[in-house]
Amino acid sequence: MPVPTISWDKNAVRIIDQTRLPLEKKFISIKTTKDMREAIKSLKIRGAPAIGIAAAFGIYLGIKEFKGDDKKQFRRRLDEVCSYIEGSRPTAVNLFWAAQRIERLVSYHEKLSPSELKQLILQEAILMIDEDNRVCRAIGENGVSLIKDGYSLLTHCNAGGLATAMYGTALAPVFRAKELGLNIHVFVDETRPLFQGSRITAWELLEADIPATLITDNMAAFVMYQKKINMILVGADRIAANGDTANKIGTLGVAILAKEFSIPFYIAAPLSTIDIKTPSGDKIPIEQRDPGEIIKGFGTQTAPSRIQVYNPAFDVTPAKLIKGIITEKGIIRPPYHENIQKIMK
Ligand code: MRU
Repeated sequence: MPVPTISWDKNAVRIIDQTRLPLEKKFISIKTTKDMREAIKSLKIRGAPAIGIAAAFGIYLGIKEFKGDDKKQFRRRLDEVCSYIEGSRPTAVNLFWAAQRIERLVSYHEKLSPSELKQLILQEAILMIDEDNRVCRAIGENGVSLIKDGYSLLTHCNAGGLATAMYGTALAPVFRAKELGLNIHVFVDETRPLFQGSRITAWELLEADIPATLITDNMAAFVMYQKKINMILVGADRIAANGDTANKIGTLGVAILAKEFSIPFYIAAPLSTIDIKTPSGDKIPIEQRDPGEIIKGFGTQTAPSRIQVYNPAFDVTPAKLIKGIITEKGIIRPPYHENIQKIMK
């Protein structure tokens, strides 16, 4: 059974500190909105659906100390807290989706007092955990229909249990395949510079007893050339209205290789990762991260300190390279613009 990534525990949010993996499975308690923002920024909690849930809890932590009955003041404070949490990371749309969901909830229940609204926000954040579990199970069920016995898959970054509340998106069909007794194998891209593949995906697959092989990112082309891969399955941070998809840096290269070697390339993501307000991938904001992650990642100096660095955390895969988008409501196929509109209704 996978471990819950995030939960509410009396007066605090309990998360696994993912920066400590694979060395230790350490849980930490988060009690303030400031600490939640920092946890999201520093990737203690990461992965689009997980940071959506974290954002909802972060918002609750930010308004829970609000005193008094003034509804206008409460609303002003809520807006401030939402903007503060939204400022943590720009690419994964789930974070903004969660904040907007809380704001809509409060608008809908405008007659309630601030103390009632605070409780409602907490309940909504807790509800998002159960909802995410159901959604990920459905993604697993829909995605497993594409996996045949004996398949070898390749994944990039971590779109497993730890990137969601518990069950994962891209790894959900893999976990389901295992439950169904299918013989499968997963190649795991290491995922430079922060190694979410080797630190987190490799760890999760070992815990789930799923046969896995770790490769460095620059080996992906060769394993595809050697016909070791039947299918590629990755997650998403934001899917534009035309199907262009932002995911961890390196995904684009994998998708281009998949086309060259005629390997089906699939995205797995909940509908909350689809952003119909963003028309195409070139409009998706891409997070730029600290050069230190490349020059001196994990404390080891691997480049001269003064070298200029470009460190985008995500790239965008054009829709034309994507064979299908596996969601909780089914698999979206091209033409994406039309079919995304349909499913989002
Ligand atoms: O920077 P990260 O680790 O948050 O990036 C995570 C990814 O790119 C995942 O593939 C994506 O969020 C999907 S998670 C189900």
